Amino acid sequence: MVPCRLYTQKSMIIAQISDTHIDPDSPNAAERVRDLQRCVDDINRLDPAPDVVIHTGDLVHNGNAAKYQVAARILGALKRPLHVAAGNRDDRAAIRSIFAAGRDLLPGTPFVQYSVDAYPVRLIALDTLSDISNMGEFCDIRADSLRAALAEGGARPTAVFMHHPPFEVAESKYRWQFDSQEGIDRMRRALEGQSHVMRAFCGHAHRIAVGKIAGVPVSSTPSVAIDLRLGDFPDGVQSAPLYQIHRLDARGGFTSELRAAL
Ligand SMILES: [Fe+2]
Repeated sequence: MVPCRLYTQKSMIIAQISDTHIDPDSPNAAERVRDLQRCVDDINRLDPAPDVVIHTGDLVHNGNAAKYQVAARILGALKRPLHVAAGNRDDRAAIRSIFAAGRDLLPGTPFVQYSVDAYPVRLIALDTLSDISNMGEFCDIRADSLRAALAEGGARPTAVFMHHPPFEVAESKYRWQFDSQEGIDRMRRALEGQSHVMRAFCGHAHRIAVGKIAGVPVSSTPSVAIDLRLGDFPDGVQSAPLYQIHRLDARGGFTSELRAAL
C-alpha cells in the first residue's frame, strides 16, 4: 500500500499493533482484551515469524498500574520482541519501565524516545505526546534527539515509529493530529535529507491512512480495539481485530499488509 524505496537487500518483518486501549473500567473491557489476545495469538502463528512487534501507542486507556498489568500479561505471550511507542492515553513512566526496550535517547527527561539496533533495520521510537492536549507535539528537545540519533546511526537503514500521524489524514475528523504545524515541521526538518530513513509507522487515527513526511512514506494502522476502529471494512472482517505486517522485501522497501486476526 506504500511505495517501496530502494535501500537494502536485507529482509525483515515487523508486525504492528496499535491503540488497544485496554481499560478494565470500560463497558467494552472484555472485548478489548479479547481483540488484543486474538492479535497476539495470530502474530504467534505467523510463518515466517516477524522479527519484531511494534505497538504504536494507547496501549491502555488513561494508564494506571492495574491496566498495564492486564496489557503486560497478554503481551507477555508474544514470542517475538515487543517495542512500544507511548500514546496520549499512556503513562510515559509505565511505558518506559515495562515496555521501552532500547537505548534511551533522552535519559533524565520524561520523553520516551529510544533506538533499537537489534534488527536489519534500525528502529527509533519517537515521543509525540503533548502536555496540553491529546494531539501530537514534537518539541526542539525531541527533534534534536532524533537528529543526533540519525547522525550517530550513519547510513544504517532506519524506520521510526510513533503514536500521532505527522501528515494530513483527510478522512479523519481531525485532519491534522498535532497541536500545531510547528511540531510536524520540527520532525520534518530532522528527517530531511536522511535518505536512509525508509519508513515511519503510526497509530492514533484508528484508521488506515498513508502520507509522507520529508519524503519518507508514513502510515497509520487501525485500532486493534474494534469498538474504536474507524473506516469501512468488508463484512467478513467486521468482527475481527486488525493489525499490519510490514515486510522488507527483496526490492529493499517495506510493503504493508492489513491482516485480520480471524
Ligand atoms: Fe491516541
